[in-house]
Amino acid sequence: MKQILILTGAFLLGTMSLSAQSGQEIYMNYCSACHGKKLEGGQAPSLLSGKWKHGETKKAVIQTIKKGVANTAMMAWENMLTTKQIEEVTDYMLSLKKKNKPGTDQKR
Ligand code: HEC
Repeated sequence: MKQILILTGAFLLGTMSLSAQSGQEIYMNYCSACHGKKLEGGQAPSLLSGKWKHGETKKAVIQTIKKGVANTAMMAWENMLTTKQIEEVTDYMLSLKKKNKPGTDQKR
């Protein structure tokens, strides 16, 4: 698992652009490995349907990303990402959730 993460990291470093990152790029780089390309889940529960456990307001989501979820694979990102990056990735995740039609993630 650790090796896979290191390999993924090296790959991402190679492909990352120097320009400012959009929420989508941040999501793809740091979050999609666990949450899936479209929040459909994978290593983490799907965030498309149903309520988000730790809150769905922008403020609550930012807090979850900053602090992580204790005793789960969801780490605290506040030392990895800037507040601006966290805000952008939050907007991106919430916009994806909004766009999703209920039940889309049921059939894989
Ligand atoms: C190593 C795997 C992993 C990575 C990488 C990861 N997460 Fe998570 N994340 C999880 C898991 C597992 C949970 C579920 C925690 C729980 O059981 O409450 C979670 C939960 C969440 C939640 C709360 C969902 C809810 O139901 O309230 C948010 C928001 C979230 N992650 C955002 C992010 C963002 C943004 C990133 C990238 C910066 C990210 N995650 C990267 C594993 C990951």
